[in-house]
Amino acid sequence: MALEWIDDVLGEVRRDGLWRQLRTVESAPGPEIVVDGRRVLQFASNDYLSLAADLRLAEAAGAAAATSGVGSSASRLIVGTHGAVTELERQLADFKGTEAALVLPTGYMANLALVTVLAGRGDAVFADRLCHASILDAIALSRARLVTWKHNDPESLDARLRDKAGYRRRLVVTESVFSMDGDEAPLAELAAVARAHGAMFVVDEAHATGVFGPTGAGVGEEQGLGPGDLTATVGTLSKALGGLGGFIAASRAVIDLVVNRGRPFVYTTGIPPAQAAAAMAALEIVRQEPERRERLLAVACSLRERLRAAGWTVPAGRSPIIPVMAGDVERAVALSGGLWEQGILVPAIRPPTVPRGTSRLRISLTCGHTKEQVERLVERLSELRGA
Ligand SMILES: Cc1ncc(COP(=O)(O)O)c(C=O)c1O
Repeated sequence: MALEWIDDVLGEVRRDGLWRQLRTVESAPGPEIVVDGRRVLQFASNDYLSLAADLRLAEAAGAAAATSGVGSSASRLIVGTHGAVTELERQLADFKGTEAALVLPTGYMANLALVTVLAGRGDAVFADRLCHASILDAIALSRARLVTWKHNDPESLDARLRDKAGYRRRLVVTESVFSMDGDEAPLAELAAVARAHGAMFVVDEAHATGVFGPTGAGVGEEQGLGPGDLTATVGTLSKALGGLGGFIAASRAVIDLVVNRGRPFVYTTGIPPAQAAAAMAALEIVRQEPERRERLLAVACSLRERLRAAGWTVPAGRSPIIPVMAGDVERAVALSGGLWEQGILVPAIRPPTVPRGTSRLRISLTCGHTKEQVERLVERLSELRGA
């Protein structure tokens, strides 16, 4: 078989400094983990509320698994939906203030299912130019025309919508907290622009769910957006909620459309009840323990200030995702490697995940990181800066 081309491609990846490889983790999630046999302090996970290893989630999942098993055995339209998943969807709709919600196996698939039912050939999807790969892949799968607008710039969106008026349907999509930049979108202004042009508006709250808003429902809640401003939101159970899965929160009609037409929903196995039970335990903690998100945001704010004072370029934002700009790939990799040698895991984020010339360290905090652990990171980074 003619497979030499694979070596050529992999050689090119190595030459460009973009080689990636998987590491083996042999401990529970937490600020300190054992990776490839080494105990390290990590600032790499999306476990913002430190729930991934919370025993309350594990016990809820264990109890559900003991009575209901670990699989769901088929697509939900074929075999039906377990009551625990239906109850989770009811709770998610309540949490997000929408008529309905639908859970999918991952947030990635939630974006695929939602965008592909809202837009198709002959339509246009307007996406912030820094949108996550799952949104861009969803647009590609939808066969709609992709139109990008300047990051977090309502005027740029307005201009694009004015330019590109001749489409059957138009959908505006953005993230509320950007996954690699950690900044928040001006959702209220973007919603107003979308509304003025008669466009649909979808927000991916993957990194904001559980973190922002008075009840932890996200940036939309914080900025006072209601169901009238949004066609749908996407969330994930896999980051602050500590488990695995994604969801769409929307009107009954939009959810019915996904159930009937959303191929990434229809043609895959539903999540098992154990996963739903863990997510419901997480939602209960989000409701009962607001101090987790309050502490998280306070620590994020002080770390940003410390890094800036130490001379690092840290873009604006309030979230626990804190990029430290390195510029070229080599510098980002060297910084990440230098930290690794000191027993600290902070990933270097490189193209194609971020645009060329904007390689960076991506620090992500959890509410479980102690003051001393954060201090250790700042000190080690300062040593590398001086080196
Ligand atoms: C903005 C955004 N949307 C969606 C996803 C996908 O979520 P999941 O990890 O649940 O598939 C991610 C995950 O990295 C993300 O950053």
